[in-house]
Amino acid sequence: METVVSGIRSTGNLHLGNYFGALSNFLKMQKENRCFFFIADYHALTTHPKPDDLHGNIKQVLAEYLACGIDPEIATVFIQSDVPEVIELYLLLNMNAYVGELQRTTSFKEKIRRHPDNINAGLLTYPVLMAADIIIHKASKVPVGKDQEQHLEMTRRFARRFNTMYGVDYFPEPDAYNFGKKLVKVPGLDGTGKMGKSEGNGIYLFDSPEEIRKKVMRAVTDSGPKTPGEKPSEPVKNLFTLMKIVSDPSTVKYFTEKYASCEIRYGDLKKQLAEDIIKVTSPIRERILEILSDNQYLSKVVARGAEKARESASKTIREVREIIGYRSF
Ligand code: TYM
Repeated sequence: METVVSGIRSTGNLHLGNYFGALSNFLKMQKENRCFFFIADYHALTTHPKPDDLHGNIKQVLAEYLACGIDPEIATVFIQSDVPEVIELYLLLNMNAYVGELQRTTSFKEKIRRHPDNINAGLLTYPVLMAADIIIHKASKVPVGKDQEQHLEMTRRFARRFNTMYGVDYFPEPDAYNFGKKLVKVPGLDGTGKMGKSEGNGIYLFDSPEEIRKKVMRAVTDSGPKTPGEKPSEPVKNLFTLMKIVSDPSTVKYFTEKYASCEIRYGDLKKQLAEDIIKVTSPIRERILEILSDNQYLSKVVARGAEKARESASKTIREVREIIGYRSF
């Protein structure tokens, strides 16, 4: 049995990238392992949300998690800010995290480029808090998408550094995990890059079928292949990547052959893709609505989750304090 930790920031609804990049792997692991799933609502503060928005997003993301099939009877489902022990570990790890290595993190450099007016210290130490989230439960597997690979590398480094510094073999070095072996990057429909909340190109689990059809039909393509064997452009490759994720292999084969023989009609491909996405999202959307209306159930889930997560986290903190030298007289 492995210990598994995964999380998501509470900055907006879940999109297909979150679902297929991270969540679907977690769902496959929850029965056989010691699993923790949490909402990273401290991480969400880097973008300075208004209190009502922060609260609303936490509730929405929680309902969406549960609607996807995370079972709070098996996994520990909790909210990051309900487990203050993580802040203590974050502070302790910060003492051994170097400003230079944090400044070189790809996600930090990207944030500076995009939001030069809000380069706060929370952004700089984001990977340290993430490492604390993971190692506080001594996790060995972390189901995440490709974009989190570097953060996991840093988590391993911080864990190793702690062990070396104090001459102990205390924290395991966790791996980013995907059942298919390779970490996944779900593309957006705007031609380049990944699907993301801040990219504004997401298809959300909560989108209505009409919205999904509209978004998919608007996806960027090209003028079509002119000669057999021609390589698809980036936007078309992305459509095929999405199709491989959501559609039946026979559908992918059909359109791949149509592309190869230059007979493809992108309109047909998009229509099919939209329907296949809707097949995945529709039942989830219905459950989200049901769960959102049940405040009592949501409160019960997070209260129980906080209790279990704090039990695990406080044990680690006790042991870490002892290792570091905070001991009773
Ligand atoms: P966040 O909220 O950006 O994304 C949550 C998860 O969804 C994955 N993901 C994707 N995977 C594939 N393709 C995409 N287009 C795509 N977009 C998002 C992310 O890789 C992630 O797994 N730092 C984390 C939150 C976090 C965390 C943790 C995760 C905080 N502490 C500890 C795991 C363990 C984040 O920003 O995720």
